[in-house]
Amino acid sequence: MTHRRPLIAGNWKMHQTAASAGVLVAEICAAIPPQSYDDVDVVLCPPYTALASVAQAIAGSGLHLGAQDVSAHEWGAYTAQISAPMLLEFGTRYVIVGHSECRAYARQQDEEINAKVRRCLKHGLIPIVAVGETHEEHAAGKTHERVTGQIREAFAGVEIGDVERAVVAYEPVWAIGSGTSDTPEEAATVIAAIRSAVPGLERARCLYGGSMKPENAAALLAQPQIDGGLIGGASLNAQSFAQIVDHARKAITTP
Ligand code: PGA
Repeated sequence: MTHRRPLIAGNWKMHQTAASAGVLVAEICAAIPPQSYDDVDVVLCPPYTALASVAQAIAGSGLHLGAQDVSAHEWGAYTAQISAPMLLEFGTRYVIVGHSECRAYARQQDEEINAKVRRCLKHGLIPIVAVGETHEEHAAGKTHERVTGQIREAFAGVEIGDVERAVVAYEPVWAIGSGTSDTPEEAATVIAAIRSAVPGLERARCLYGGSMKPENAAALLAQPQIDGGLIGGASLNAQSFAQIVDHARKAITTP
């Protein structure tokens, strides 16, 4: 049983228009019993263009709004970037930072990710800091070295009180979108290593991500180290997402 409040975040990636997002939110609201929000923080992270429609659709529901990235800069000549104040305008509370797809496709490096984390915290946004090893690093036995390195860089210079407020998502790159998650025991071991890498993370919430779905969520969430999930594919289906939220709820009431 964990003493940290569970968090389930849906990472919609590049799915849903502003119009279709409203429909999905309505389905999610119908599928999640409202009392779930007493026990679990549930966050939806749509694409930027759907933030406004999702903000409107979740009003009064207990769901929270998250973004998938943020600029490391406050404002200025950064074509195509979106700043923290712009996100706050929609009532955004969480921001995924350092997702492996941003690291791989947008070439985001540790230093920039650290700047994004600081930018979020400065504005009261809660960063969901994603770390994870590639298939090659995993096969070479470098998982702990890789993720603890990423997490130390991400939180470099961040005060302990801010570290405690942040959220970490351990997402093995080889598990994302593969249909096969890490084993609960292995994921918990890696998360324990992440927690001990940065002072304050023992009190922060650490999620698992990478093919979490209704079939494996209960076993993953039963691990005391795992406080929730960052859900990709399964978050696009209201029933699947609601079932994962339900597993998170049961995990805190089941000793
Ligand atoms: P997945 O994605 O659940 O589809 O594996 C998770 C993520 O990339 O955050």
